[in-house]
Amino acid sequence: MDGVIVIAVDGPVAAGKGTLARELAARTGLRHLDSGMIYRAVAALVLEAGDDSGDGRACRRRAERLVVADLERPGLRDQKIGSMASRVAAHRDVREALVGFQRRFGRTPPGAVIDGRDIGTVVFPDADVKFFVTAHVRARAARRHRELVSMGETADFGNVLQELSERDRRDSERAWAPLRKADDAVVIDTTKLDAAAAAEKALDIVRHRLGAASVLS
Ligand code: C5P
Repeated sequence: MDGVIVIAVDGPVAAGKGTLARELAARTGLRHLDSGMIYRAVAALVLEAGDDSGDGRACRRRAERLVVADLERPGLRDQKIGSMASRVAAHRDVREALVGFQRRFGRTPPGAVIDGRDIGTVVFPDADVKFFVTAHVRARAARRHRELVSMGETADFGNVLQELSERDRRDSERAWAPLRKADDAVVIDTTKLDAAAAAEKALDIVRHRLGAASVLS
């Protein structure tokens, strides 16, 4: 892609794609974008303004005014914002408004590792390497539950499992840019793989596709 390298890392909630994308960026020298933060930031703006999350046009207006500083807002990782983000992200209007932001980021030299749901299918269908990171739903819920507990939140495993399953369903069933594996994506199943093993597996594939020099030792 014109001397710029883009690596797409897609997958469902808590599969480990963010951790993998950060490690890939560190080891390749590429920049990293967690595209979920973009949808979370729009969700926060919608909530703050008291807009209806079912109103695509109202949500689009918030998306169009998004600035990079909004991605640093506190509280974006909260479960409530994640849930709202998946509602806001279902609108075609919102997704269209945010594609340009992601493409500009990815095309800025030297390129980027971008994680999300539709990076390899819609945002960068011509990405140099594509990964689809997944894991069994209970393994993902257990991870998310541990994460919330370690942040000092009181979380019930059953609720976490239910919220995650609902988010999976909304993300996979939406009409516009649903979560799905790109035909040419390599699947990394992290159900029984820790973060380090997943990263090594992915880095081997990057070396194979882009040459040994693409990965810093
Ligand atoms: O990845 P994360 O859980 O932070 O994303 C929050 C929500 O944003 C997801 O549930 C999904 O609905 C939406 N999203 C998306 N496309 C992306 C990234 C996130 O629809 N590329």
